[in-house]
Amino acid sequence: MIKKISAPLSLKGEITLPGDKSISHRAAILNSIAMGSASVTKKATITNFSPGADCLSTVTCLRAMGVKADFLATRPHGSGDATTLEIWGRGEEGLSEPEDVLDAGNSGTTMRLLTGLLASQPFLSIITGDDSLRSRPMSRIVQPLRLMGASIWGRKGDSLAPLVIKGGNLHGITYLLPVASAQLKSALLLAGLFATGETIIEEPIISRDHTEGMLKAMGAKINTRGCHITLAPLTHPLNAVDLRIPGDISSAACWLVAGALHPDACIRIKDVGVNPTRSGIIDILLEMGANLSIENQREEGGEPIADLVIESSKLSGMEISGDMIPRAIDELPLLAVAAAVAQGTTIIRGAGELRAKETDRITTTMAELSRLGANIEELPDGMIITGGAPLEGRDCLSHNDHRLAMALGVAGLIARGETTIHESEAVDISYPSFWQDMELLTSRRGSEDTRGKRSPDRDYLHH
Ligand code: S3P
Repeated sequence: MIKKISAPLSLKGEITLPGDKSISHRAAILNSIAMGSASVTKKATITNFSPGADCLSTVTCLRAMGVKADFLATRPHGSGDATTLEIWGRGEEGLSEPEDVLDAGNSGTTMRLLTGLLASQPFLSIITGDDSLRSRPMSRIVQPLRLMGASIWGRKGDSLAPLVIKGGNLHGITYLLPVASAQLKSALLLAGLFATGETIIEEPIISRDHTEGMLKAMGAKINTRGCHITLAPLTHPLNAVDLRIPGDISSAACWLVAGALHPDACIRIKDVGVNPTRSGIIDILLEMGANLSIENQREEGGEPIADLVIESSKLSGMEISGDMIPRAIDELPLLAVAAAVAQGTTIIRGAGELRAKETDRITTTMAELSRLGANIEELPDGMIITGGAPLEGRDCLSHNDHRLAMALGVAGLIARGETTIHESEAVDISYPSFWQDMELLTSRRGSEDTRGKRSPDRDYLHH
């Protein structure tokens, strides 16, 4: 599909977002192996489950292993309806051998987390994905799962999917992760639940910790101290939990960047998950000078949540590196848009992992934003972006990468002239209502809504 975008006069409104993709995957997977009290099958209800294709891939794979999972409402999120998933856990030994190859689609989280789970199961399984996923590195999970005792094979020296897994009889290991990857960490934790002995994981930098939090909430014996995690094997099944998934901060990031860059913007984004292992985008935008405020902070299901309000801002460049990278890894293409418009230079370093995402996001972000007039130099592990160049609407391509499609959409909202985005349907992977939400925020009705709902304590931002 092709999407054409021109800069709107204003960018205003209040939106709620589809559920967080990372938390939704985990809610489905962990509830699929959970039980009610006294080991009785219990339904878990997960509201605001991510409607994106990635989480649907996870649910489809779980169903292929005998898990009953039903969607109650799948109406478009832009109309205010959310997706609810009901899932009946099968306990520790309840999964069954899939009759066919499991298809993780475009989803790295599905493939890596499920491979960890499959490594613990005493049956044969094969898991594959689309062209992009079949080119992403898998040795990072194959090697430690083998050390735990699983038999796993893959293409090209066991480094690429499809992966063939014959699991069972695992033992815990002590493992220093070679990369700060929550997918790798979570794969090992899932395997560790069914191993004999403790699984001890050391991360080089803290990555998103949703798996640890949810495991704790479901009764697993897991301890975290900074980058050090200790997990004891299950002695009784996980407890099924009902959950409401917070709005996805990676989707909120689109409107935070768009709102900061547009000269007449005020956007309120409600119920966003602001887990500190994910909220790098907020800290970075604040340091760049964004008129961003965090309101109504609270906790739901062990995850911190807040409303975020962004208004037109004057941004300055900065260095983004070190501990900040895993906290903002999926938002770096959007931050490249912000940096291209900001005053001064932005340097992104230590982000080599961007090359192992749905596309090589250093190369694709640079290629596509450069077409729009951004001044970007590629580094092996990042980018140097010289800000201040006005963006010009041109033809550009998402490379079928959802994060890039949305970053280009945001660039189109502030570029001069018309921006044409090819393969714009890529947004369906994590945020299917992205283009509808854009329409809502660029329409006059959206502007009027916001004015009515603006809280009085935000007037200080109008200077
Ligand atoms: C995710 C972890 C990150 C992130 C991905 C989702 C997760 O990947 O980029 O979009 O849900 O665990 P890595 O763990 O490979 O860094």
